[in-house]
Amino acid sequence: MRLKDKVAIVSGSGRGIGRDIALAYAREGADVVINDIDPATAAATAADAAKLGGRSLPVAADIARKEDVDRVVDAAMREFGQIDIMVNNAMKIVPGKLEELTEEAWDTTMNIGLRGAFLMSQAVARHMIARKSGCIVNIASIAGLFPYNWAGSYSVVKAGLLMLTKLQAVEWAPYGIRANAITPGYIRTPGTEAMYADPEIYEGRRKGVPMGRVGGGEDISGVAIFLASDDSQYTTGSVVGADGGQAVGYFLSVPGRRFSGGRLD
Ligand SMILES: NC(=O)c1ccc[n+]([C@@H]2O[C@H](COP(=O)([O-])OP(=O)(O)OC[C@H]3O[C@@H](n4cnc5c(N)ncnc54)[C@H](O)[C@@H]3O)[C@@H](O)[C@H]2O)c1
Repeated sequence: MRLKDKVAIVSGSGRGIGRDIALAYAREGADVVINDIDPATAAATAADAAKLGGRSLPVAADIARKEDVDRVVDAAMREFGQIDIMVNNAMKIVPGKLEELTEEAWDTTMNIGLRGAFLMSQAVARHMIARKSGCIVNIASIAGLFPYNWAGSYSVVKAGLLMLTKLQAVEWAPYGIRANAITPGYIRTPGTEAMYADPEIYEGRRKGVPMGRVGGGEDISGVAIFLASDDSQYTTGSVVGADGGQAVGYFLSVPGRRFSGGRLD
């Protein structure tokens, strides 16, 4: 068990990648705080985590709001007395073309993905700094490396999250806190299911991945375990890809042609 006696908060872990990470952490011996804006899914993930042997605590809260963030961190401290790992995962895409995007759509994505990650990290870091130990895992995206057109402010948020990761790494290294980011590629989750249910979209995207498949939450949770465990004790400020080689595919792609199963067609 690589996370025994550790306490982790995972934002947005009611479903999808966050849920998979929280359950994977529980399997590795961690106690997990399951945050989600949806109380029902938070409770369900926490119940499933508890079946894996460790302790779990659901906390329904909107991480875009400072008072909610403080409530999550206070609840974690009250229940478990320490916080070792913070996974900033919660997100909501509000898509739209730039020329049509409303202020509200821009702000929603920004406030959850970037402001929320900043506020959560700051609140946990105050406890981590006091203990001179801690670890932050930011779930960014390949969209933070390359523009994801028509996804509103999503790419900007994820690019910002990569820079926040680097700032956290350099500012908090003296306090024994590590901060790293994961950049998932195409991952099938409840959040993307509506899109992948369309066979044409699924196949088009699958073909664009050098490894020839769309990923699942388990493709991200293994990396998240590594970055939260002592196996990565000298790794901070890093951006770790989990994209089936897609970032390399972007590099090789030629306009009008598609990188498919290891070759261009
Ligand atoms: N699925 C993909 O293809 C993919 C690719 C790259 C990166 N990512 C990133 O991985 C993370 C998880 O993605 P997913 O596909 O599992 O998403 P999802 O939509 O399936 O799950 C997101 C969860 O976050 C919760 N949430 C939303 N707003 C919240 C808020 N304000 N406070 C607390 N919780 C909130 C939702 O209720 C939901 O349970 C996101 O950061 C996403 O950007 C996903």
